[in-house]
Amino acid sequence: MFTFTSAFVTVALSISSFLKFAQAQNYTTFVPAASTFYASETATQFSINIANDSSDVYFYFASPAYSWVGVGFGQQMEDSLMLIIYPDADGNNVTISPRIGRKGGEPIFTDKIDLEVLDGTRIEDGLMILHARCSDCRVWPNGFLDATSPHQPMIYAFGGPYALQSSSDSADLKRHVRYGHFTIDMRAATGTGGVPLKSNASTGVQDLGVMTKDKDRRTLAHAILGCVVLFVVWPLNVLIAGFLKNIRIHAGFSVAVILILSITYGLGISTSNQFNRSKVFNTPHQILAIISIAPLSLLSALPARPLVRLHRIIPRLHVPLSNLALTLLLVSGGLGLQLSQQSRLIILTYTALSLTLVIFLAIIGSVVRRRGPAYARATQRLPLTSVSSSELGLLGKESRAGSEAGSATSLKGFLDESRRGGSMADGQQRKIFGGGTMPGPQYLLNMHPGVPVHIGSGRRI
Ligand SMILES: *[C@@H]1O[C@H](CO)[C@@H](O)[C@H](O)[C@H]1NC(C)=O
Ligand SMILES: *[C@@H]1O[C@H](CO)[C@@H](O)[C@H](O)[C@H]1NC(C)=O
Ligand SMILES: *[C@@H]1O[C@H](CO)[C@@H](O)[C@H](O)[C@H]1NC(C)=O
Ligand SMILES: *[C@@H]1O[C@H](CO)[C@@H](O)[C@H](O)[C@H]1NC(C)=O
Ligand SMILES: *[C@@H]1O[C@H](CO)[C@@H](O)[C@H](O)[C@H]1NC(C)=O
Repeated sequence: MFTFTSAFVTVALSISSFLKFAQAQNYTTFVPAASTFYASETATQFSINIANDSSDVYFYFASPAYSWVGVGFGQQMEDSLMLIIYPDADGNNVTISPRIGRKGGEPIFTDKIDLEVLDGTRIEDGLMILHARCSDCRVWPNGFLDATSPHQPMIYAFGGPYALQSSSDSADLKRHVRYGHFTIDMRAATGTGGVPLKSNASTGVQDLGVMTKDKDRRTLAHAILGCVVLFVVWPLNVLIAGFLKNIRIHAGFSVAVILILSITYGLGISTSNQFNRSKVFNTPHQILAIISIAPLSLLSALPARPLVRLHRIIPRLHVPLSNLALTLLLVSGGLGLQLSQQSRLIILTYTALSLTLVIFLAIIGSVVRRRGPAYARATQRLPLTSVSSSELGLLGKESRAGSEAGSATSLKGFLDESRRGGSMADGQQRKIFGGGTMPGPQYLLNMHPGVPVHIGSGRRI
C-alpha cells in the first residue's frame, strides 16, 4: 500500500515537473508572427513567417495530397518562385521542390534556392505537413519577395488526383486541376523567426479570389481524336477498301484519316511545350509519332500516277506501309498515355483495344486476300481456281462497276495494281479489263473496229 502510494506520488511529481519544464521552455506559447492562407475547401494551409533578424523565411505548408500542391510568389506562373510538395517515394514523408515558373508550362526545378526541411515535416492521416526554413528565398532569378509589402501577390495550384509519389525534387508533374490567387501581408508575417503554427483560419491575406477549375482541353482533344482515328476511322477504311467496290469511298476515307491525324499532330505539338518532359520532342511517344509521318506520307504520295509507274513494286507497298503506319501510331498512342501519366486502367484498356484491333485487321486482311478485294474483283478476272461459284455470281453483279472503272483514275490504277499484288500472288499479273458478264469499254473499243469490217465483208459476200 505504502509502495503504491509513493509510486503514485513519484509519477505525479515527475509529470508536474515535466509540465513546468515544458512551460519554462514555452514550446506551446511561442507563436511566431505569421500570415496564413487557409483554403477550407481543400483543408490547405500555407503560412509564412519573415524573420526580422535574418534573411530567413519560415514556412508551414499543409495539405491533403492532391498528387501535388504548390504555392508561388508572384502574380502569375511566369518567373514565380514556387514551393511544390508531393509525397515521397515511400509515401511516408513530404518531398519539397522549389521551382521557377515559366510561361504556359510546367515550372522548372531550381537548385538556386536553399530550402531546409525541419523537424515536424511528415505525412499524417493523409495530410502532408511541411516545416521549412529558407535562407535565400527573398531573391531568385527574375523575381524577388517584397518583405515590406502588405499585398504580396501569390498563386496556388493543385495537381489532379493521381498517385504521384517521388523523392526526386524534379518529378514530372501533371497539369493543375485547380488554381487561384491571393495576396499576403508580409508585415503581419514579420517577427521573430520560427515555423508558423497549424491554423484553420486565414489571417493577413486578402483578395482571395475564387478557385478556378482547369481542364487541359487540347491534350484531351489530342487523345480523343487520336483514338477515334485509330479505332474507328482507320478500321472502317480497311473494311471499305476490302469490301466496297467503289474505290472513291476508300480514297475519301483515306483523306479523312490524314486530315484527322494532321489535327491530332497539331494539337499534340501545340501542347508539348507545357511539360518539361515533352517540350524538346525527345520522348518515345513523340519520336514514334514523328517517325510514323514517313509511312503516312508515302501512303499519301504513292498513289500518284507518276510514282505508280516508276516500278511494279510501288503499288504493292500500299498494304505493308499501311500496317506499318498503324502499328507505329498504336504504339505511339500507348506511350502517349504513359507520358501523360494516365491511370493503369486506361493504359490497359488501350492495350486491349489495340490488340483487338490488330487481330481484327489480321482476320479482315486474310479474308480479303482470299476473296480478293471488292474493287479488284469488280475490275479484273480472278483465276477460276480461287473463286467460288457464289463469288462468281457476285462478280457478275459487280461487273458494271468494272466497266465504269475502265477509265481508271491514277488512284484506281494504283489500287488495282496493289490489290493484284496482294490477291494474285501466283503470277497471274496480267491485267484483264471488263471482267464479268458485261463488256467493259476496252472490250467495246477492241470490238468497234471490227463492226464495219463485218458489215463490209457481209456486203462483199
Ligand atoms: C519563451 O517566450 C518568450 C516570450 O514570451 C520568448 O522571449 C522566449 O524566447 C521563449 N523561449 C523559448 C525557449 O522559446
Ligand atoms: C526539366 O528539364 C531540365 C532539362 O531540360 C531538367 O534539368 C529538369 O530536371 C527537368 N525537370 C524539372 C521538373 O525541372
Ligand atoms: C521527414 O523528413 C524530415 C526532414 O528530412 C525529417 O526531419 C522528419 O523526421 C521526417 N519525418 C518522418 C515521419 O520520417
Ligand atoms: C522582431 O520581432 C519581435 C516580435 O516578433 C520583436 O520582439 C523583436 O524586437 C524584433 N526584432 C528586431 C531585430 O526587430
Ligand atoms: C478550427 O479549429 C478549432 C480548434 O483548433 C475549432 O474549434 C474550430 O471549430 C475550427 N474551425 C473550423 C472552421 O474548422
